[in-house]
Amino acid sequence: MFTCSTKNFEIKLLSNIMRNATIGMTLILTAGASYANDNVPAMDKSTMMEMQKVMKSDMALMKPDLQKQVKSLSKKTKMDMMKILSQHSRRSKQLTLRQVMHEVLSDYQSIVSGLATDNTEQAADSARRLANHRLPVGGLIPYMAKEDVNDNKLSSLVGFNDLVEGNAKRLAEAADKGNVNEATNYLGKIMEGCVACHQTFRGQPGLSNRLR
Ligand code: HEC
Repeated sequence: MFTCSTKNFEIKLLSNIMRNATIGMTLILTAGASYANDNVPAMDKSTMMEMQKVMKSDMALMKPDLQKQVKSLSKKTKMDMMKILSQHSRRSKQLTLRQVMHEVLSDYQSIVSGLATDNTEQAADSARRLANHRLPVGGLIPYMAKEDVNDNKLSSLVGFNDLVEGNAKRLAEAADKGNVNEATNYLGKIMEGCVACHQTFRGQPGLSNRLR
């Protein structure tokens, strides 16, 4: 009798441990997923060589002190930057990051219009346009503050890329299926990425240096 109940207790304990372990694992996996790099597939050799060329031509446009800073970044940061670059087929020869950002905002607003009017086609097209936004002249790095061009700060870009571009692609897929509810859920996640990146890399926009 007694042994039996101990056994039951042990079984219960074991199943609790198993359940908690599963919950723990699920938590770790979901926490990882929001910043996972799953929308940035590993580059094949030819893509990598192509991206190295892009990096090189971007660097040729940089002033020597920025060139030096970029050269001293770790291999991992450079690989991350190239993976992000490889997700964008549109590059501008004259637009600045600020101009590109305004275009990104227009695309975001167009997604909202599409969802609000049950126009899943507009939402899907705009989301794909946002995900493949143009890159400004010289790439992203020249528009970051000098003190932000380091391995530590730039390591957050992969996560922001998944939040914005990754969720925009997921939104487009949901919209393709006509699933407005699911697509709408991604709006907040995309904006989380905009806000997080702004908090990391952008100060208050348009500050005046003529105020005391
Ligand atoms: C990779 C980081 C990053 C992400 C992600 C990002 N932004 Fe930006 N954004 C910046 C930086 C840096 C600037 C400042 C650029 C400058 O002034 O040269 C900026 C500026 C802007 C501006 C110009 C006006 C201003 O506030 O300075 C708008 C509009 C904007 N972002 C919208 C968005 C929207 C909408 C999203 C998400 C869909 C987004 N951004 C995602 C980094 C980012």
